[in-house]
Formats: sequence, structure tokens, C-alpha cells
Amino acid sequence: MKQTSSEIPALHEMFREAFKIGAAVSTGIIAAQGPFIARHYNSITAENEMKPALVQPQEGEFTFEAADSIFEYAEAHGIGVRGHTLLWHNQTGDWMFRDTEGGTCSREQLLARLQTHINTVVGRYRGRAYAWDVVNEAIEDKTDQYLRDTQWLEIIGEDYLRQAFEMAHQADPDALLFYNDYNETDPVKSVKIHKLVRSLLDQNTPIHGIGMQGHWNIYGPSIEEIRNALKLYASLGLKIHITELDLSVFRHDDKRTDLKAPTAEMLKLQEERYAEIFALLLEFKDSIDSVTFWGVADDYTWLDGFPVRGRKNWPFLFDEQKQPKASFARLADLTASQS
Ligand code: GLA
Repeated sequence: MKQTSSEIPALHEMFREAFKIGAAVSTGIIAAQGPFIARHYNSITAENEMKPALVQPQEGEFTFEAADSIFEYAEAHGIGVRGHTLLWHNQTGDWMFRDTEGGTCSREQLLARLQTHINTVVGRYRGRAYAWDVVNEAIEDKTDQYLRDTQWLEIIGEDYLRQAFEMAHQADPDALLFYNDYNETDPVKSVKIHKLVRSLLDQNTPIHGIGMQGHWNIYGPSIEEIRNALKLYASLGLKIHITELDLSVFRHDDKRTDLKAPTAEMLKLQEERYAEIFALLLEFKDSIDSVTFWGVADDYTWLDGFPVRGRKNWPFLFDEQKQPKASFARLADLTASQS
């Protein structure tokens, strides 16, 4: 007989000895699916509503309604909040980098704006977010250059990274502070990420962990690549959070648009991958203390629009009706066999 979702174990309970299990959410998703989220997840991240352009669309105009309601929901249900994100080259108002004439602002002005942004946002939720992604995606990965060419780097210089962490630490000394990035298992990029975090630590920067986004697919990266990256990052003695996990059913260069449902073969591969990935994450549970999916269930994922616009994807453990997929059952077996 098919199990209904109220009979199955809660996802976060299955991993309670190892790490928190999170989901990316929005206020709309919470309104529609609040009880389901609270049953299966014990951490949430705002998919968009706490990004710089959304909380400070214009200089000094802060809009906290959405973020406030996400915290209120989380606190009413005993769910932790990962703050995401304070400094990024995307989804940040262009005003941040401009002077009054529309030219490029000065280093001092940009640092002052960064300070105001971080103080206001992190300060508002002081003691309420257990972790923050302080800097998102600062490493270059298209060329052999080290840091990504961004306005932050151009205007402030390399020390913008250290400064952002110091500002966040001042605003909430108890929050765990993360550097977050994608393609984090790539052998070349992971060495650059390690180098960056090592150099921040060498400057006594208050950084506590590395966020591995985990936008993977059912074909790759290989378990060996993921293991090597986990080993490399864990060797820094910091925490690791998997921050944006999803397993696309398509390879990145697959442009197909005709599928109305995942094939049996895709679901089988996805199930195998979820089982082997979580077995690996459990091996690293002393370093990993939070694993967040970049969504709640297959009814909605950012992958429905990326990299192929309007194409449906099915990357999670729960299907479009929020029923557990075979992948979920594999994780239930995996955790049952470990306890
Ligand atoms: C990156 C960001 C996330 C999100 C995804 C796409 O991974 O860190 O906030 O924007 O891209 O949804």
C-alpha cells in the first residue's frame, strides 16, 4: 500500500543525530505549504526575500516585511533560519555602486554602504539567524583568474571579503558566518575557494564555515569529486553547510523541453544519487551541521526556469503532490540502518 505523507517519518527527524535539514522558501510558499514545511524541515532560507536588492532596493529604504514574516513563521515552529545573503554581485541594487552623478562611487562610500547594509540587516535579526551567507560567489570560475571581477573587487579591492565578515560578526557575534559558492566540487575552483578561506583565516577573519551550494544533477559531480571537496574544506577545521541542494534530472547542457514527467530511468538514477550523496554527507557529519534543499518539493523549483526557460524539473525528495519519492524512501532506509 502506498504510504501517505502523514505516515512517513519526518525528513529532519531522520537526520537529527547528524545535521539540520533545510529548505529554501518564500512567504508565498510558507502561506501555501506551512504545515508541510514544518513537518519535514528544521531550517529555512529565504530563496530571494533577504537578498540585498530585496531588503534595500534604494539607499536607506529597507523593506523587511517578507523577512520578518519568515522569521516569525520559523520561530513559531522551532525552525532555524539561515540568512542569505549579505554581499553578492547579483540581486544588488545598482545604487550601491554609484555616486550622486551616476559614476562609480569611492571605496570609502561603498564600505560605508556595506557597513550600513550589514549592520541594519544582521542587527535586526541578531540572535535569531543561526548562520549567514556573508559573501556569495566571489571566486572566478571561467578563467584562471582567482577572484571574480565584480564591482566589490574593483571599487574596494580584495579586502572587501575580510571587511564583510568583520562587519557581520560585529552585528551578531553569535551567528555562524559562511562563504558560499557553486561548482564547489570542481577540482580547480575548490582549490581557489580553499585558498580564499585559508587567507581569510590567516588574517584572523571571523569566518566559521563554507557553504557548498550543491546545485548538482543525477549524473554528476561524482561521489569522488564531492568527497575530495568535503575533505579539502573540512581540513580547514571549519563547518560545512550544504546550502542549496537540488539534483536536476538533466545534464547542464541538455536543452530538451518535451518531457511532461521524469522518466523511470531518471527517477532511478536520482534515487541512487540521493542515497550515495547522503551516505557520504553522513560520513562527514562531524563537519557538516546543516543540509538545505533549494526548495520544498517538485511543484516548484528555480530549475523550472534555468538553464532552459519554462522547462519543468523534478529535483527533490517529494513529488509535485508532495508525496515522498523513491529517493525519500532510500534516505529513510539509510538512516534506519545507521541508528
Ligand atoms: C545562487 C544563489 C541563490 C539562488 C540561486 C538560483 O545559487 O546563491 O540565492 O539565486 O543561485 O536560485
